[in-house]
Amino acid sequence: MISQDAIEQVRQATDIVDLLSQYLRLKKRGRNYFAVCPFHVEKTPSFSVAPEKQIYHCFGCGASGNVFNFLMEHEHMTFIEAVRYLAQRAGIRIEEKRGDSARRDDLDRLHYAHQVAMDYYRELLFSDRYRDKIMHYLKNVRNLNDDSLSFFQLGLAGEEWDGLLKYALKKDLFHTDLERAGLIIHSDKRDSYFDRFRQRLMIPIFNQSGKPIAFGGRALKKGEPAKYMNSPETPLYNKSNVLYGLNFSRNEIRRQNEVIVVEGYFDVIMLHQVGITNTVASSGTAFTLQQARMLAHFADTACLFFDSDSAGMKAAMRSVDTLYDAGLEVRIMQAPDGDDPDSLAVKGGADAILATRENAVEYLDFRLQQVDLNTAGIIVKEKLIKEMAVLAGKIGDKTRRDLLITAAAERLRVSPRSFYDLLEGRAESQSESVGQSAPPGRVADIEQDLIGLIVHYPEYIDSIHEKIAADDFKSETMGSLYSAVIGIYKKLGTISESVLLDHLENNKLRAAFSSLAVKDWEGHNIAATIKGIAKKIAGFKREQLIDKLKGELKEAEKTGDETTAKRLETEIFELIKRRD
Ligand code: UTP
Ligand code: MN
Repeated sequence: MISQDAIEQVRQATDIVDLLSQYLRLKKRGRNYFAVCPFHVEKTPSFSVAPEKQIYHCFGCGASGNVFNFLMEHEHMTFIEAVRYLAQRAGIRIEEKRGDSARRDDLDRLHYAHQVAMDYYRELLFSDRYRDKIMHYLKNVRNLNDDSLSFFQLGLAGEEWDGLLKYALKKDLFHTDLERAGLIIHSDKRDSYFDRFRQRLMIPIFNQSGKPIAFGGRALKKGEPAKYMNSPETPLYNKSNVLYGLNFSRNEIRRQNEVIVVEGYFDVIMLHQVGITNTVASSGTAFTLQQARMLAHFADTACLFFDSDSAGMKAAMRSVDTLYDAGLEVRIMQAPDGDDPDSLAVKGGADAILATRENAVEYLDFRLQQVDLNTAGIIVKEKLIKEMAVLAGKIGDKTRRDLLITAAAERLRVSPRSFYDLLEGRAESQSESVGQSAPPGRVADIEQDLIGLIVHYPEYIDSIHEKIAADDFKSETMGSLYSAVIGIYKKLGTISESVLLDHLENNKLRAAFSSLAVKDWEGHNIAATIKGIAKKIAGFKREQLIDKLKGELKEAEKTGDETTAKRLETEIFELIKRRD
């Protein structure tokens, strides 16, 4: 659907460091950049980005790819979507043969359905029929201003049974699309479809690229069984890796290196309204590790700002473990009794929130504050020590861990030893699994180097290809990789790390390539290095042949076949002469 030329144009216009910075906190180390890997759990960064090669590679989990692959993996885009997105980002207009609506790619249709629904709900919010009533609620009861309504794209689901359905059918969508999007429901009893959301204030939930992928619907009538009705999980919406507000707050979270985590949609909205914009909502459930990792990409510290009631505190505590696991420092913000972030912001504006932030305490401190240490008995203390040792064990940074343990030990009036004893058991079992794999043999090294070099310096491909064939490689994987490189180069007339990754379909080859591509050749004399390597590989081939002929010679001598033996001897002699 999109021409190879257009894809190349988009590739050239996109810088991988620039793009990935939207999602990760990249730190420069030498020529490359490093970040905590978004594709597996880790505390120390092993995800590397090579700007010269325009690819990424994780030394921990092996994830690898170019700008397109990143969007496909991280944002669950298709290849076409990734190209389109990057084209748009770079201001490039690409020619695309428009398919008819039925052929439009599946996820595209779900995205489109959500866009249509969001438009519809917004139209209703401002319609003559509902406007006055709902505006009274939003403005006078919830204290929202016009900017917030439009920034968060709030809308309204009306009283009709099938308002959205009728509207969407006119917009080129089918029942199946809307049902798959979770926007309508089939009633078996009446054998008909009806809207999932009715008489609710609609809060669109966006993915990180700012597209609506689900809705939260807040009840407007008193006595509704559920205060919120949320979209079901769909191919677009996986609750466990979405955080409400992250698309709006991401940049500010990164800038402040800190995120304020609240519970409700309205908490996020109201904090934004008063100017506190590094905020996301957990939406009333405990954090998943994925969510915690998403935050850890943007900040080192998470401040939990939950309702001051005990349910809020319990919710906070359920998430702490997970946040620690993701390597975040956790602080607890406490609103005055009876307030939640939303109501506190309404009453006291940004100042009240910032004051609460000033008084936030590190989670371990917070736990210690909760018990009266003067009267606490041994059992309470022991429980606390265990709990804290578990959390401290999750802290990757040794200095921070030691500081926390010292402080906690002092407060509990016990020796820091009691913590370390509990920690050590864990530390040992962890270090076992770190086991290093044996370094690859020299032959494999050389073969890998050759492939890495010719992909980065394709001007040498033709002359290498004349001298070395795929089956000259000892490693079968490297041999296949070599033929793939040659094949793609011949087909496209060009090659680079990023291009190769688009065309390598075999996962084993992709993995092999991305780990060898990481090597940095700067400062080497490339021509001489390539020549040297090619000579060595030709050398392997010769030695192999010599061995084979020697075997045949032995056979010939055994059977007394003198003519053959003589011929073999000459051949072997010729080969040995060529050794240097
Ligand atoms: P809250 O009850 O604190 O909601 O639940 P809220 O957003 O502050 O709403 P208001 O201020 O009462 O209008 C926190 C979050 O828990 C989820 C929602 O994501 C909500 O924002 N929740 C709550 C549900 O999913 N379903 C419910 O029935 C209640
Ligand atoms: Mn609330």
